[in-house]
Amino acid sequence: MRKRMIALYIGMAVLVSVFWFVPTYAQEDIVSLQDSAFVDQQRPAAVFQHEEHNEKAEIEECNVCHHIYEGGNKVEDDSSEGQGCSDCHHVKEDEPTRPLMKAYHDLCKECHKDNDKGPVTCGECHPKK
Ligand code: HEC
Ligand code: HEC
Ligand code: HEC
Ligand code: HEC
Repeated sequence: MRKRMIALYIGMAVLVSVFWFVPTYAQEDIVSLQDSAFVDQQRPAAVFQHEEHNEKAEIEECNVCHHIYEGGNKVEDDSSEGQGCSDCHHVKEDEPTRPLMKAYHDLCKECHKDNDKGPVTCGECHPKK
């Protein structure tokens, strides 16, 4: 009897961890960005409601942001959405990729400028709480 209870508890723990922990890392839950690779955060988290943003901005392809490069060229039909930006772009200047802060700012701001839509000033993206 006791053994069965223990097995049941373990079974429940596995179920709970599967259903609790997986969704917290899903893109649906991202509403702001504060990359832990920056050890001393100087600015408040950047506003970014992942799903809502991409719907409003009508971005179809994940690899517009989650890209893969090979030999200096973007690979059109591949994407890196399982990886963080900081896996490839490092806080300190480190060839061959641009540093992390520049990577974020270039990606986000350039598209907003090109489209004349979306925030481009510090305070719009990093609002004080
Ligand atoms: C289009 C949105 C956007 C704009 C505009 C923008 N940022 Fe950011 N910034 C981000 C994102 C996204 C990150 C990465 C997430 C994070 O904050 O950790 C970031 C990261 C940073 C970081 C490194 C993390 C930290 O807090 O130390 C600093 C510093 C920073 N931004 C300062 C600025 C300053 C200064 C300006 C204005 C000149 C600015 N940003 C404008 C989106 C933006
Ligand atoms: C406008 C840019 C943009 C687009 C388009 C985009 N994402 Fe993201 N996504 C991000 C950023 C920025 C992060 C945070 C990355 C980080 O923390 O290093 C993120 C995080 C994620 C994460 C979480 C990764 C983790 O481990 O925390 C997943 C999953 C994800 N995106 C999937 C997708 C999928 C699937 C699509 C296409 C349907 C997509 N994204 C399109 C910008 C984008
Ligand atoms: C698998 C590795 C990898 C991941 C993950 C990755 N990048 Fe890159 N990225 C590169 C390489 C390589 C280049 C080409 C060298 C360069 O220009 O820095 C590049 C280029 C860029 C560029 C310049 C070209 C362009 O598309 O405008 C920006 C901006 C950028 N990355 C931002 C980001 C952001 C923000 C994230 C997270 C959403 C990210 N990258 C995730 C490897 C990666
Ligand atoms: C490929 C183009 C593109 C990229 C890349 C992009 N954006 Fe945007 N963004 C847009 C467009 C277009 C809008 C305006 C959407 C609308 O309201 O019509 C927008 C709007 C926004 C807004 C206003 C609120 C909202 O959700 O509509 C915020 C905040 C924002 N972007 C943050 C970011 C951040 C942070 C990044 C980088 C991680 C980013 N964006 C990358 C195109 C882009």
